Amino acid sequence: MRTFSMWVVAVFALWTAAAEQKIERISGSAGDVLDDDPVGRLKVYIYELPSKYNKKLLQKDPRCLTHMFAAEIFMHRFLLSSPVRTLNPEEADWFYTPIYPTCDLTPTGLPLPFKSPRMMRSSIQLISSNWPYWNRTEGADHFFVVPHDFGACFHYQEEKAVERGILPLLQRATLVQTFGQRNHVCLNEGSITIPPYAPPQKMQAHHIPQDTPRSIFVYFRGLFYDVNNDPEGGYYARGARAAVWENFKNNHLFDISTDHPITYYEDMQRAIFCLCPLGWAPWSPRLVEAVVFGCIPVIIADDIVLPFADAIPWEEIGVFVAEKDVPKLDTILTSIPTEVILRKQRLLANPSMKRAMLFPQPAQPGDAFHQILNGLARKLPHDKTTYLKQGEKVLNWTSGPVGDLKPW
Ligand SMILES: *[C@@H]1O[C@H](CO)[C@@H](O)[C@H](O)[C@H]1NC(C)=O
Ligand SMILES: *[C@@H]1O[C@H](CO)[C@@H](O)[C@H](O)[C@H]1NC(C)=O
Repeated sequence: MRTFSMWVVAVFALWTAAAEQKIERISGSAGDVLDDDPVGRLKVYIYELPSKYNKKLLQKDPRCLTHMFAAEIFMHRFLLSSPVRTLNPEEADWFYTPIYPTCDLTPTGLPLPFKSPRMMRSSIQLISSNWPYWNRTEGADHFFVVPHDFGACFHYQEEKAVERGILPLLQRATLVQTFGQRNHVCLNEGSITIPPYAPPQKMQAHHIPQDTPRSIFVYFRGLFYDVNNDPEGGYYARGARAAVWENFKNNHLFDISTDHPITYYEDMQRAIFCLCPLGWAPWSPRLVEAVVFGCIPVIIADDIVLPFADAIPWEEIGVFVAEKDVPKLDTILTSIPTEVILRKQRLLANPSMKRAMLFPQPAQPGDAFHQILNGLARKLPHDKTTYLKQGEKVLNWTSGPVGDLKPW
């Protein structure tokens, strides 16, 4: 094991190299599609819904605009003025239902997903009776933005989310969601995994000069235990965060704590590695923050499906550590050759990587909105199974928990 002072030397070498940092692109691979322009490749029809499904909810609680699920609102606003929007549903490739199922917050700002299934059902009832398009496909050419913890499973506890499964009425739709984990009932094949919403202006305001030394080796701020919801321990983060704390709380290379300092964003820009362990769900805003601030994300979340994984070369920019290997984290990270670290930093410096992680207002070419559209465009043309035969029904309107069938 190397000593701390040796690491100071190595870190110094890293930041001097970083000062003359160049941007590296991976050409001929997935990274390039980030620059695709979706305009002209798809047309989206936006259903007109009563404002109780969207704007009224937001009026009641403007905090919905700043929490990490806000993509459901900003995507709506973006589409309204996007050139891919069509007012003629007959020429649409995709149908979008503007509904904010996550905009129901507790006094402390936590979203409650309990009404979401009824609200979703109610909106689908409405579009399927007022327009002919839902019945043609039972949603297979419709997309929904469901950024909650476990997407359209609509529960924040994994066990309950798994028990519920994806809302039956959304089984054929394309779900645009933050949740992503391979072989999980809450992730349908063909879904589009997106980054969680992180406030772009606020992050921008905390940028420090690019040549600032990265003098912190490993950085993490956040919970290690969730004693309120997981009093016995081991369930929260499947024990991975607890293992980080127990193994490395006294290790000089690890700047880790539960305190959330006002210099949080600046600190990430002074760090080489930023830990992105799972919490209750595999994803967290740290993924976005790490990429935006050029800190190599250390992803500790087995089987996670990362945002826009078909466009962002996560394997190249990040480091993946299996949950069971957390006790070896120090050895794993200190064994990464300097050239490899520098290459990851150069890739992270590519502005198209950062843009793809953010939902800015106004929108910018290549941002997360555009990547969602690119993802939808790549699914075109729809295949034969999209359209049902005359009178054919696949979905069961009365399946799922009885509580979900109550009116909204
Ligand atoms: C779609 O099908 C449902 C029955 O499943 C029916 O009630 C509704 O009227 C149909 N919508 C249209 C626009 O025909
Ligand atoms: C639809 O689901 C309900 C509740 O699970 C079930 O009782 C009913 O038989 C199902 N209908 C069809 C046509 O499968």
